[in-house]
Amino acid sequence: MVKSAEPQTILITGANRGLGLELSRQFVARGSDVLACARNPAAAKELQKLAHDHPGRLVIHALDVAEPASVDRVRSAIGARAIDVLINNAGVIGPDRQGALDMDFAGWAYTFAVNTLGPMRMLKAFIANLRASARPRVLNLTSFMGCFSTDGADHIAYRASKAALNRAMKAAAAELAADRIAIAMAHPGWVRTAMGGPGATLSPRDSATGLIALIDALDVEKSGRLFGPDGAEHPW
Ligand SMILES: NC(=O)c1ccc[n+]([C@@H]2O[C@H](COP(=O)([O-])OP(=O)(O)OC[C@H]3O[C@@H](n4cnc5c(N)ncnc54)[C@H](OP(=O)(O)O)[C@@H]3O)[C@@H](O)[C@H]2O)c1
Repeated sequence: MVKSAEPQTILITGANRGLGLELSRQFVARGSDVLACARNPAAAKELQKLAHDHPGRLVIHALDVAEPASVDRVRSAIGARAIDVLINNAGVIGPDRQGALDMDFAGWAYTFAVNTLGPMRMLKAFIANLRASARPRVLNLTSFMGCFSTDGADHIAYRASKAALNRAMKAAAAELAADRIAIAMAHPGWVRTAMGGPGATLSPRDSATGLIALIDALDVEKSGRLFGPDGAEHPW
């Protein structure tokens, strides 16, 4: 495992399973401090084990990104500490019914609350912590399913939530360029998690390794762009 050049503090949402858990594992193994956020820490057994194995370096916070009061509580708990990397990883695939003519609209609204409003709420909540970093970066987990350059007729709510996330974060990247905060979107590949399913092509380990390489290379010149699992820029 490659050690990072300098100690970093990384905040990860949805850190209890899937890509969030693997990102937490790899970051703490390379010497970073991890603020690992999970909706239900009591049920997050693997994350608890990581915290136990890395006392004081991986700290678990209870966080539901769709709940403003929950985000406020984590902000208060973290205080003025600098955050070098905010990883907006938490996400949902959306409701069972999300076809054009068979749509669960309440489920779509919730999908937006988690996938689109959640990351924007996190960015706003932790802006002072990011500004306190010498090299602040924000990585948003998105999906090629949200791109206009890809086809596909399924998962309308999910696609729309990620397309809106992409557009909102692209605008935020421009707004925050003067602060030298780098904000990028990343598609992690098709990954074998609960969301990706057992038939997916990438392991969480390989996907997270690629995402960390992207974070290491992220700077303001790359801000406001979308990247694929190989680190290459991808059209919207
Ligand atoms: N897997 C893929 O193939 C793939 C492809 C493209 C993009 N992505 C994106 O990559 C990210 C991670 O996906 P994954 O495959 O690791 O998914 P996953 O295994 O389903 O895990 C999703 C994570 O998000 C958390 N989460 C959901 N709603 C939340 C909320 N309101 N507040 C806080 N946390 C919440 C979950 O927590 P709970 O355990 O509490 O539910 C869980 O930790 C997502 O943004 C996803 O859209 C994944």
